[in-house]
Amino acid sequence: MAPCEYKHKVLPNMQLYLAPLQGFTDRVFRNSYFRFFSGFDCAMAPFISALQLGHCKKKELMDVLPEHNGLMKVIPQIMGNDPSDFAVVANLLFDMGYPSVNWNLGCPYKMLTKKKKGSGLLCYPERVEDFLDRVFPLMKTRLSIKMRLGLHDKGEILALMPILNRYTLDEITIHPRTGAQMYEGGVDLDAFGDACAMSRHTIVYNGDIRSREDFERISARFGFIERWMIGRGVLADPFLPMTIKGECDRVSDKIKTIKQFHDDYYQERLDYLSGPAHVTDRMKAFWSYLAPSLEGGTDFFKQVKKVKTPEHYTSVVENFFERGTCWNGPSGI
Ligand SMILES: Cc1cc2nc3c(=O)[nH]c(=O)nc-3n(C[C@H](O)[C@H](O)[C@H](O)COP(=O)(O)O)c2cc1C
Repeated sequence: MAPCEYKHKVLPNMQLYLAPLQGFTDRVFRNSYFRFFSGFDCAMAPFISALQLGHCKKKELMDVLPEHNGLMKVIPQIMGNDPSDFAVVANLLFDMGYPSVNWNLGCPYKMLTKKKKGSGLLCYPERVEDFLDRVFPLMKTRLSIKMRLGLHDKGEILALMPILNRYTLDEITIHPRTGAQMYEGGVDLDAFGDACAMSRHTIVYNGDIRSREDFERISARFGFIERWMIGRGVLADPFLPMTIKGECDRVSDKIKTIKQFHDDYYQERLDYLSGPAHVTDRMKAFWSYLAPSLEGGTDFFKQVKKVKTPEHYTSVVENFFERGTCWNGPSGI
């Protein structure tokens, strides 16, 4: 593939990662997405919880079964703070064919942070160090980390960097917000730069890339970053990775592609999930980011939110597309 040329530089080794989004980017979404769109080099799967005694939920493990994930490179992610439980799950994934797993140190939700999981561990550098000391000898896989700037304070990442530098990690993905911020406020690019300056590892940037302009602005500032992870921006604009890589000219009819993607995803959902309420809930989630990018999509989404059965859902969607719509692109996250 030809390198992407931008005003400021050429990015010959740029890699784009699909972010893990629990409730959105499971293997059903990933497979449909990768059938219709290009641009991503790999996908990080939503987290698998490492439960006591190394147990994990069958459904979470099924999500990364290699036979369900043949269309793209996948990096499984594990949530946990107990080295033995974590290593059991990591070794299970190794036996399934995954040479590397990711440790979630970013999740901001109270339910997990109060148990010192996800971003809840970031304010305890000594615990992170103890975890890494104990987990490496137990694990067959390599490890990467996905983290925020801290739980409460962006200074927390600066205390962690010298510790992380002692270990061999595939990469560190940084979403430059604190856990306490959830998704509020802007990303802190100064703090991201400070953290990068202290790290000896390959860094993946993640956060608020919603357009090619966002990507160009942030990549112009951090010319040394080659790996970029995008989440909500892709839910709102599935063409975004192709646009960033300059491949979007290949799509002649965007609405037709969106409809085909939707139909494929919906059919897979019907085949995959047991109850009709699950299907309609997932389809509401699917449209929650995407609908505003379509002409008339906001009113359409109001109708979608009211549906209770797959039959009603099908008629609402078919009517919307039959009446005619066009691709406006995202208006914001
Ligand atoms: C609904 C939702 C679910 C998420 N699930 C995960 C997850 O399972 N693992 C994880 O590391 N991050 C998770 N994240 C965080 C995203 O991967 C990403 O870091 C965040 O959305 C910022 O990137 P973006 O601005 O490109 O969306 C989730 C975010 C959202 C909004």
